[in-house]
Amino acid sequence: MTAFLKDIEIQQLAEQHGAPLLVLDCARLQQQYDDLQAALPGVEFFYAVKALPNDAVINTLKQLGAGFDIASSGEIDQVHRQQINPRRTIHTHPIKKDRDIRDALRFGCTTFVVDNIDELKKFRKYRHRVGLLLRVSFRSETAVVDLSRKFGCNPDEALQLIQRAQQMGIHVKGLSFHVGSQSSSADAHVHAIEQCMRIMLQSEVPLSTLDIGGGFPANYDGKTQDINDFCAPIREALSKIPADINIIAEPGRFLVAPAVMSISSVMGKAVRAGTTWYYLDDGVYGSYSGRIFDHATYPIRTLKTGETRSCVLAGPTCDSIDVIAEDIQLPELEIGDLVIGEMMGAYTAATATDFNSLARAKVLVLNEPGQDTLTPALQESLFPQPPELVPATLNTH
Ligand SMILES: Cc1ncc(COP(=O)(O)O)c(C=O)c1O
Repeated sequence: MTAFLKDIEIQQLAEQHGAPLLVLDCARLQQQYDDLQAALPGVEFFYAVKALPNDAVINTLKQLGAGFDIASSGEIDQVHRQQINPRRTIHTHPIKKDRDIRDALRFGCTTFVVDNIDELKKFRKYRHRVGLLLRVSFRSETAVVDLSRKFGCNPDEALQLIQRAQQMGIHVKGLSFHVGSQSSSADAHVHAIEQCMRIMLQSEVPLSTLDIGGGFPANYDGKTQDINDFCAPIREALSKIPADINIIAEPGRFLVAPAVMSISSVMGKAVRAGTTWYYLDDGVYGSYSGRIFDHATYPIRTLKTGETRSCVLAGPTCDSIDVIAEDIQLPELEIGDLVIGEMMGAYTAATATDFNSLARAKVLVLNEPGQDTLTPALQESLFPQPPELVPATLNTH
């Protein structure tokens, strides 16, 4: 689990910056990237920017040699600002406006994803400038978020679509899939890899790239398989693929989820029907938006110890849906006490809103590569005693 800050440091950050906060640890992000690379050797990663579109995340992953999966003109603007080489980007949204395609081409991104004939036709006029990946749908029962219902052609339509593209003079260079986010088993990946390989072998058009998407699970519950074990069947399936095929992936969640911690504070409390409700200054319209959109349950704790009781944690808006956790066991809290959400990097800040005109959580960044100066005030605050942790950089965004 995350715990990249000691409780005293959490307290000090909250005192210094106020709550709510999201604290991003780029060292933890780097660790996740290294672990995934070790689990999938030979696979080239394109970080799915949508998971956490944060400049420090992009900068850290750029330094590590990652490419970027972008899916909108806003994401293009962001990677452009971070001086990402367009050749290291792929545009993965299967459904685009002509404007989206033009924005990506103007930036210099030339790899796009399609999954149907109407989308293919949009590329006729750009055919000399692009290479396409055909996204194939593989439904997954073990993913928390099934992405193959909304996107991807049926496997048995793939060859025909590749042929139609060839007739239009459009270069399809490979296949892609996304078996769904937060997969609990690699079975769907393995099945999709095998089926894609079958299509690639049958295709008269030579296909040189296989994009195995995302879906690599974050350990929210402390029981999720270690990434190396999770990927073992995927490694095995990929080992059967001819060496000249370029294997790429689009991980989002696995890289960023454990790298962010939420710090919120209790702003009010009330006893309702015999249960204590704590009202926090962050909720499902803010950093905890993944409770709704991402179906995620985050490990939540406080800095207090002692006897615990079942209570409700609610967010700060006026809406009754704004409840983070019901029947959660916590010690008695007082107004001002801090509540910590772990594993809160993926699809959290990314989907937060401004509902009720409430400000979103401030993001603090630690250990960003190349940003190794620590302000004396912060150093004092983070390290009251002589520093014993790795130096951290703290930028407010
Ligand atoms: C096209 C595409 N690629 C990659 C991802 C990232 O997936 P994950 O966060 O499960 O790794 C997503 C998530 O929605 C996606 O839609």
